[in-house]
Amino acid sequence: MPQIEVFAPAKVNLTLHVTGQRPDGYHLLDSLVAFADFGDHLSVETANALSLKVIGPFAKGVPEDNSNLCWRAAELFGEPVAITLDKRLPHPAGIGGGSSDAAAVLRAMETLFQRPYEGDALALGADTPVCRIATAARMQGIGDVVNKVNLIPMAAVLVNPGVDVPTPSVFKALESKSNAPMTEMPAPEFPAQLWSWLENQRNDLEEPARKVAPVISDVLHALSGRGARVVRMSGSGATCFALFENDGLADLVARDVARDHPDWWVQAVRLA
Ligand code: C5P
Repeated sequence: MPQIEVFAPAKVNLTLHVTGQRPDGYHLLDSLVAFADFGDHLSVETANALSLKVIGPFAKGVPEDNSNLCWRAAELFGEPVAITLDKRLPHPAGIGGGSSDAAAVLRAMETLFQRPYEGDALALGADTPVCRIATAARMQGIGDVVNKVNLIPMAAVLVNPGVDVPTPSVFKALESKSNAPMTEMPAPEFPAQLWSWLENQRNDLEEPARKVAPVISDVLHALSGRGARVVRMSGSGATCFALFENDGLADLVARDVARDHPDWWVQAVRLA
């Protein structure tokens, strides 16, 4: 049976501004999203019936039925496939695991069945449209408006302290739902301006997430004062990241944080 291997990179919200709320409760976002060279790995094979098997270091607790976004992606595409998901990303963690997996299943099925998926990607989670692009993009609307951007290569350290932070509870704890959007992003030809611009943006969900899960403050503290240009939380948490201009420094910081916090998930990555 034809089989395809696909990569589902971790998604990192370098900025995440909450600019409003719709009458149906969904929030309007303005977010610069980048993707890591680390993520989940999937294999998708044509089959007589839809199936899903989850393996890997973070397989525990991942459903193997239609409550998994991978399964729902295959159902929406409308062909039976056997999916193996090698779960290497912690979850739920604010780095898009489920959405990135669903987007990867759609990519694999588009190749296997030689036709584009023209259905609603947003139905597979707010991050699935941007995860289908899987390269740096500005995400707006409720996640449905996605435009590619050019970014300079960046080294990052991702840290997750192993707590589940439910996204709806973080949005609920957000006090101001109507914040300023991102200011205009400098072009990548001006890296110095881009770095200082990045420093001046925010993740509006960071403060409410720290109230819901105080350990997030410990993670941000552990990443601070180590030479990073930006230390921030991704998505609705609990994963935080530090951005470095220097790849070697990122690797050293990852080593030190992992040594000091053996219970945390720590990963040095390159973003694009
Ligand atoms: O689509 P996803 O599963 O990522 O969203 C999880 C929850 O986050 C939603 O049920 C909603 O409560 C909240 N959300 C929101 N506004 C968005 C995206 C998500 O309020 N734009």
